[in-house]
Parts: sequence; C-alpha cells; structure tokens
Amino acid sequence: MMKIRIGLILLVGMLAGATIVFAVEPPTVVTMQNKQGEVFFHHEEHLVAVNDCIDCHHMGLMPPACRDCHGLDREVPRLKHAFHRQCRNCHIKNGGPTECDSCHDVGKKTKSAK
Ligand code: HEC
Ligand code: HEC
Ligand code: HEC
Ligand code: HEC
Repeated sequence: MMKIRIGLILLVGMLAGATIVFAVEPPTVVTMQNKQGEVFFHHEEHLVAVNDCIDCHHMGLMPPACRDCHGLDREVPRLKHAFHRQCRNCHIKNGGPTECDSCHDVGKKTKSAK
C-alpha cells in the first residue's frame, strides 16, 4: 500500500517537474559525518512524507546550512539536539525508525558534528 502511494506521488512529481522548478534543487541523499556514526538521510524519499520544505528548513532554503548556525552560539541549540528533535520527534509521531543504529552507521564514526 505504502509502495503504491509513494509510486503515485513520485509519478505526479515527475509529471509536475516539467513545469515546477524549485528555486533550490533538493539533493537525493545527504550523508552527515559525525562521532556517533555516519547518518544517511534519504532527502528525496522524505519529501513524500512532508512536502513543505520549510518544515525542516525553518530558516528558509538559502544558505547558511544547519551546521552554520547550530552549535556556534549559546542561543542556538546544538546541532545534535536540533537534528534529534526534528528527525526523531517526527519518527516517533509518524512511525519512522527510532533506534540509534537505524540512523547512525556505527561502523563509520568520524569527527564531531558540533
Ligand atoms: C524532512 C526534512 C526536510 C525536508 C521536508 C526538506 N529538507 Fe532539504 N535538507 C534537509 C536536511 C536535514 C538537509 C541536510 C542539511 C545539512 O547537512 O546541513 C537538507 C539539505 C538540503 C539542500 C542542500 C543544501 C543544504 O542546505 O545543505 C537543499 C538544496 C535542500 N535540502 C532543498 C530542499 C527543498 C527544495 C525542499 C522542499 C522541496 C526540502 N529541502 C525539504 C531536510 C529536509
Ligand atoms: C540562520 C541560522 C539557522 C539555520 C540556518 C538553521 N537554524 Fe535551526 N534554529 C536556529 C535558532 C536561532 C533556533 C532557536 C530559536 C528558534 O526556535 O527559532 C533554532 C531552532 C531549531 C530547532 C528547535 C530546537 C528546539 O530545541 O526546540 C530545530 C529542530 C532546528 N532549529 C533545526 C534546524 C535544521 C534541521 C536546520 C537545517 C535544515 C536548521 N535548524 C537551520 C537557527 C538556525
Ligand atoms: C516530518 C517527518 C520526518 C522527519 C522530519 C524526518 N523523518 Fe525520517 N522518516 C519519516 C517517516 C514517516 C519514515 C518511514 C517511512 C516509511 O517507512 O516508508 C522515515 C524513515 C526514515 C529512515 C528509514 C528509511 C530510509 O529512508 O532509510 C531513516 C534512516 C530516516 N527516516 C532518517 C531521518 C533523518 C536522519 C532525519 C533528520 C535529518 C529524518 N529522518 C527526518 C519521517 C520523517
Ligand atoms: C532519526 C535519526 C536519528 C536517530 C534515531 C538517532 N540519531 Fe543521533 N543524530 C542524528 C543526526 C541527523 C545527527 C547530526 C549528524 C550530523 O550533522 O553530522 C545526530 C547526531 C548525534 C550525535 C552527535 C555526534 C557528534 O559528532 O557530535 C550523537 C552523540 C548521537 N547522535 C547519538 C545518538 C544516540 C545515542 C542515538 C540513540 C539513542 C541516536 N543518536 C539516534 C540522527 C539520529
């Protein structure tokens, strides 16, 4: 059922793609390196669940990126907290995965996220 629905939405998206051009082209996947283990985020697939860019890009779509604000200043929540709040809270509400290793590839630990 889910597969069929995603297929339909993608098809509509492709047809609409001919006329709708995003101001900023969204990436297909985003990989985030950090100490807990690389996070592989399927950006394109997530657009099926949420279609308002601003739900996640709360400061708008133009640069700076999340990490350019979060963690630099005491007024702004640390990147880890901001992402956990955004990613995990939605997963808890909407049936996405919540175990650490469903997002973190613990075999690929790198430097700090901030
Ligand atoms: C479910 C949350 C979510 C939604 C909805 C979403 N994005 Fe993103 N997007 C992200 C995350 C997380 C990143 C990675 C940011 C980082 O690594 O700092 C990202 C990265 C990007 C990037 C790469 C540049 C950057 O800021 O890192 C672009 C461009 C982008 N998104 C465009 C879009 C557009 C256009 C839409 C709406 C059609 C959209 N996004 C909707 C979460 C989302
Ligand atoms: C221009 C700076 C800036 C950018 C870019 C930015 N944020 Fe934020 N963010 C803030 C500030 C300031 C706050 C705290 C005030 C507020 O809630 O608006 C915040 C709050 C948040 C919160 C709420 C945290 C809490 O404790 O309730 C989340 C979640 C969040 N940001 C996620 C993101 C994500 C994900 C990105 C990238 C897609 C991003 N932010 C990009 C400045 C930024
Ligand atoms: C607005 C809601 C929402 C937000 C925000 C969100 N997700 Fe999800 N995510 C979902 C839902 C719903 C599913 C389950 C989709 C399914 O089973 O078809 C999911 C599935 C996933 C999966 C498993 C499937 C896959 O794509 O590999 C991963 C990993 C994931 N999300 C990572 C993230 C990360 C990392 C973030 C934050 C950068 C994030 N998600 C933010 C709703 C969200
Ligand atoms: C829904 C996805 C998701 C889940 C589930 C999740 N995380 Fe994360 N976590 C992230 C994202 C996204 C980041 C920010 C990564 C980045 O920007 O490099 C992060 C960052 C972190 C960081 C910061 C690493 C650093 O280098 O500063 C730690 C530590 C962490 N997570 C621990 C955990 C633990 C422990 C769990 C399980 C209790 C967990 N995470 C579950 C998505 C998730």
